[in-house]
Amino acid sequence: MKEELILVIDFGGQYNQLVARRVRECNVYCEIYSYKTDIEKIKAMNPKGIILTGGPNSCYEDGAPTYSRELFELGVPVLGLCYGAQLMQHVLGGKVERATVREYGKTEVFVNADTALMAGVGQASSDIPMPEISMEGHKDNKNHTTCWMSHFDYISKLAPGFISVAHTADCPVAAAMNKEENLYGIQFHPEVLHTPEGTKMLFNFVRNICGCAGTWRMDSFVENTVKEIREKVGDGKVLLALSGGVDSSVLAALLAKAIGKQLTCVFVDHGLLRKNEGDEVEAIFGPKGSFDINFIRVNAQERYYAKLAGVEEPERKRKIIGEEFIRVFEEEAKKIGSVDFLAQGTIYPDVVESGLGGESAVIKSHHNVGGLPDFVDFKDIVEPLRNLFKDEVRQAGLELGLPEFLVYRQPFPGPGLGIRIIGEVTGEKVKIVQDADYIYREEVDKALKAYKEEHGVDAPWMPNQYFAALSNMRSVGVMGDERTYDYAVVVRAVRTIDFMTAESAEIPFSVLQTVMSRIINEVRGVNRVFYDLTSKPPGTIEME
Ligand code: XMP
Repeated sequence: MKEELILVIDFGGQYNQLVARRVRECNVYCEIYSYKTDIEKIKAMNPKGIILTGGPNSCYEDGAPTYSRELFELGVPVLGLCYGAQLMQHVLGGKVERATVREYGKTEVFVNADTALMAGVGQASSDIPMPEISMEGHKDNKNHTTCWMSHFDYISKLAPGFISVAHTADCPVAAAMNKEENLYGIQFHPEVLHTPEGTKMLFNFVRNICGCAGTWRMDSFVENTVKEIREKVGDGKVLLALSGGVDSSVLAALLAKAIGKQLTCVFVDHGLLRKNEGDEVEAIFGPKGSFDINFIRVNAQERYYAKLAGVEEPERKRKIIGEEFIRVFEEEAKKIGSVDFLAQGTIYPDVVESGLGGESAVIKSHHNVGGLPDFVDFKDIVEPLRNLFKDEVRQAGLELGLPEFLVYRQPFPGPGLGIRIIGEVTGEKVKIVQDADYIYREEVDKALKAYKEEHGVDAPWMPNQYFAALSNMRSVGVMGDERTYDYAVVVRAVRTIDFMTAESAEIPFSVLQTVMSRIINEVRGVNRVFYDLTSKPPGTIEME
């Protein structure tokens, strides 16, 4: 079944993926394309609606990203956000100018809830004085709500046929529409959580104005994708390098459902996994698990430790771990012989960030898998998660019956504990960090659960990533009557949205104290525990 499509045209804004995620939360499928995409290509995709994202430029400057008038004359509803809203006005005959004050942050906005775009948004504002705004075509906006503003420029004159349907104290056109032509603009950012009713506005656009039925759901995604995989693969053989992370696990489950025994998963235990992780992966995907597939576990721990002996430099360690993986995988692939397909766990942010989707090419080189392995003999690749965001991958995983602990697992770097042990990696150090990390996560999880039970909401300090690492430092301590000279464990927890910047999370001191005493009592070779307070930047999330 062909999904209804909304196109998100990217003008380089930092929230392009967030816009797309919010649209999908309205159960509508959307894809991100650069503003450089040809109009004929856009027409051929037959979208139900188009959203223009924000961007870092001023639309009236020479060379600023733009789009021809044709885009607004396709007869398809268009919604511009921030830069997109200004550009729409600029191209269609309105005026955009530099404002005297920059509007930034949470702002009270007055909306006209009688319009299709703002239907049901805000509360009656009789007790809040209406700001004095005089402008032609201005609507009587009686409801108010909060929005997130971030702009220097403002729309000082509306294009013919438009009326303003929202304003703030400083901004006469916080939102505008031309009902006749089905054109809409929102000057603020409905896609961010700081605009609490933003999703309602986007819902109004994609579901009511564009008329999308809302058929994008993960249960039907699984069903349709299983059919597509069967069609593509036929009776061919598929090989998958299973890491035990969210993406490759969901991929394995999806392929298992589609083609069962035609799938072979190779799981390399490099000895740098978290405590018990190898066995957990085996319990789910191995012969005793519930999937009828071929599962090969390679216990390469000693091989990795031998390669890493004496190596201290972080990038060198990363390189060795990566290269060794290729070697081990290659050996297994040779034993299996030629396969028809290689499965890859590429997901939509990888596609967008590698520059294939949108405009804002954020390339995190060290996180990418980096091309196709040329040592495996295969004809084609299968990438069934290619169009999914991470939260959708998780949802699909639950649909496929994977356990929650696996589906909601926090990010874990490919080189694993190898980059959480500063300096040389040894089996002994791995054991220390595994045990300390297990205790730390157990205590944090317990505290998070207790908070939620007591307050009914997640703790405000809930971290997005938290783990223990091993500093390469040893120091003097005392245990009983004995002098010790042992390692210092570092515990870290960060709150972040995109993992590009992060703040250290305020884990309650009592939790940290429990963690400290448990680690020192239960993990041999440790006599100090440090909490890492560093933000990113200047720190990184991992230690190396
Ligand atoms: P940093 O340390 O760069 O981490 O602030 C940002 C996010 O990326 C993860 N990370 C990695 N993931 N291979 C990976 O697959 C790596 O080499 C790597 N280094 C960092 C890290 O866990 C965090 O989520």
